[in-house]
Amino acid sequence: MAKLLLGFMGSGKTTIAQLLDDNFLDMDHILVERLRMPISQYFSEKGEAAFRQVESQLLEELLKEDAVISTGGGIVMAEANRKLLTKNACNIYLQADFESLYERLAADQKQERPLFLSQTKEDLRQLYDYRCPFYEEVASQIIPVAGKSPEEIVEIIRCS
Ligand code: S3P
Repeated sequence: MAKLLLGFMGSGKTTIAQLLDDNFLDMDHILVERLRMPISQYFSEKGEAAFRQVESQLLEELLKEDAVISTGGGIVMAEANRKLLTKNACNIYLQADFESLYERLAADQKQERPLFLSQTKEDLRQLYDYRCPFYEEVASQIIPVAGKSPEEIVEIIRCS
């Protein structure tokens, strides 16, 4: 069964996926290999819509895997993706408030996320507000992550 980590940029999906399973699959990492360039370069050369198509194709493939999968924060944008996600039994949403996420993103020294680099804080807040109901809609488990260490979050997931 695919065990998916979902949430906005900066919510800790990759960190938690790695702690859950060393052999986790990271969608962004696989996409960079598949696109043969950084995601930010692909966004500027081909546009976000082209990126979303490749991302959707990859999601469909990965949902067949028996693995822990760290998704990209925009995976819930396409309705087709949400339909696929609702059929998957284990979708763990790492929920955090916008200000905490923004702080984490701003502190990321090797920041490469095209949306963070190209949008204002207010734009990102709107995107966050727009996406949150979608994460909730497809989640089988919602974990508020504020104030919890990665190890505590992993413990919650393992015990459920
Ligand atoms: C995106 C989030 C990124 C990456 C791409 C687009 C988004 O992944 O897929 O930059 O639309 O929120 P992370 O959530 O792992 O940062």
